[in-house]
Parts: sequence; structure tokens; C-alpha cells
Amino acid sequence: MNDKFTIRMRRLRTSESMRRLVRGVSISVDNLVYPLFVCPGGGVKKPIGTMADCFHFSPDKIVDEAKEIFELGIRAVLLFGLAENKDETGSQAYEDSGAVQQAIRNIKKAVPDMLVITDVCLCAYTTCGHCGIIKNGEIDNDITCEVLAKVAVSHAKAGADMVAPSDMMDGRVGIIRKSLDENGFGDTAIMSYSAKYASAFYGPFRDAADSAPAFGDRKTYQMDIASSSKQAMREIELDIAEGADIVMVKPALPYLDIIHQAKQRFDVPIAAYQVSGEYMMIDSAAKQGVLDRKTAVLESLYAIKRAGADIIITYFAKEIVKWI
Ligand code: PBG
Repeated sequence: MNDKFTIRMRRLRTSESMRRLVRGVSISVDNLVYPLFVCPGGGVKKPIGTMADCFHFSPDKIVDEAKEIFELGIRAVLLFGLAENKDETGSQAYEDSGAVQQAIRNIKKAVPDMLVITDVCLCAYTTCGHCGIIKNGEIDNDITCEVLAKVAVSHAKAGADMVAPSDMMDGRVGIIRKSLDENGFGDTAIMSYSAKYASAFYGPFRDAADSAPAFGDRKTYQMDIASSSKQAMREIELDIAEGADIVMVKPALPYLDIIHQAKQRFDVPIAAYQVSGEYMMIDSAAKQGVLDRKTAVLESLYAIKRAGADIIITYFAKEIVKWI
């Protein structure tokens, strides 16, 4: 200790107001995205067994939910669709009358200022449950990209503001950008799932989207969980070069180092997806009474924010806005 003065770190922790003054990391409702699941049919609002407080909504019922979310101050939703009929090429994913396409139109009509982002993938629509189309026993990258581009255009046509390809095929961002432009959707943005890992933390979601692979796993297209951060940087770099407006790291909390490095290195907004397994870990632990729900949720959000995420996609969004 210096005899002239004493440095005490605790001085800046003496009160809530003092702590808030020097905090430096904040969570804003403006940066939150709330995921929603759309199922075929009418009059449906059905709880999802594996994901607490999450529901399957039919395109008519999702309107009330969207209104409620917007009134809470959340201005962006990410829509996931479920298929009525699956086939080998996931063709229902780009049908104009599909559940997602209907939901987009209904939400944009009822809540025009709600930013509608759509997940672009085939896993909920293919009989094999993979994110791509099978040819000669392999997931065919380039055929899949052509179909994904059709899906993206069908979403844009229905009124989506942004499309979010989550399949992890190579080159899909470029093909989607080109198709959107050629079809007159030059203003439709792309948020690419760029560094998406073959993670166990998607477990609860697979039931929600009815999208578990019928055989094998997703390791030939999603990133290896132990791969070096250099691979993630290359994935992100390629997506930006192909025209991604926003890049995403997914899952969030287990990959904070990737979020941090991406933030340092790239000048596009970085999104982080706090996925279904991250959500259910906190939810289940809180329900067992072993940790405090609000504090644990906010702590996870601050960590993701501090790592460098500009945008956070989270199933906790509706709760968080009531706490901040
Ligand atoms: C579809 C997709 C998945 C998630 C988002 N889009 C599942 C997967 O890749 O298996 C996971 C979201 C979550 O777990 O919350 N490709």
C-alpha cells in the first residue's frame, strides 16, 4: 500500500447506483430477438414439451403472440416452421402456402414494425431430418443450396425483413444473396448462422422443430465442437464475403471466445444465439431451486454481451425485458 493514498476497488461497489454508473455492459431490448415456432393448421397454441413456456403457434394464433411481444418492446422475432408433409427434398419449405409464409404475412399485417427474421433450413421439411438433400447417400451441398435459395425467396416474398440460413452448407449465403437480388428482394437482409457448432445444446429444439436426423448426425456440415477458433474465423469471413449482413455464433455461452474474436476482427454486427439447451439448463436448475432464475439469466446475458455480441437471440427475451 502507498502511504499517500489507498487504492480500494471496493469503493466503486458501494451501492447499486455506483455499480450501475461504472458498469459498462448493458442489455437493451433493442438487441433482443425472440424465437417463435409456427405449425400448420388453425387455432393452435400448444406447449412444446421439451422447452418450458414455448409454444407451437398456427399462423392465425401467432398474431396475438406477436402483438404481445411488440408491446413488451421486443421488435424482432425469428420464425421456425414445421412441415405438414415432409419429402426427400423438403419442398414444402418454399411453398407459398406454408405455415411460415402464412405467419410472416399475418405478423407483418398486424404488427408492421415487427422485424420478421426467418430461419432458412430444410431439417424440419426433409424425411431424413437433415439440413440438406441426400444424393447417393451423401448430403449434397450444391443441390441443397439451390433449394435453400428458393426457401429464402419464398420468405422474402411473404414479407420477411431478414433471412437466416442455419444449414451450414458451403456457399449458401452467396447463392441466397444472388437469388434474392434477382427476384427483386435487394433490401432483404441476411443474418448467417456462420459459426454454428454440432452442439448437444440443440437437444430440446429438435423436438420443438420435429427435426432430429433420422440417421447419423450433423457433424459433416456443422462445425466440430473442438475445432480451433481459426476455423470459425474462416467460416465468418467467407459468409461476409458472400454478402452476409450479420453473422452469428451459436451456441452462445460455451463459445464466448469465438464471439469475442469475431467482434475484434470483423466490422459487421455479431449475433449470438443462446440456444434451447442453454435455456433449459438455467430453467431446470432454477425450477429445482438450486439457482436464482433472474440473476442467472441476466448473468448469462451480460457475459454474452461483454464477449462482443451486438444481437442476442434468446428464449428468455420476454422475461428479460421485464427485468431491465
Ligand atoms: C436448424 C436449427 C437448429 C437450431 C436452429 N436452427 C437445430 C439444429 O441445427 O439441429 C437450434 C436452435 C436451438 O437449439 O435453440 N438447422
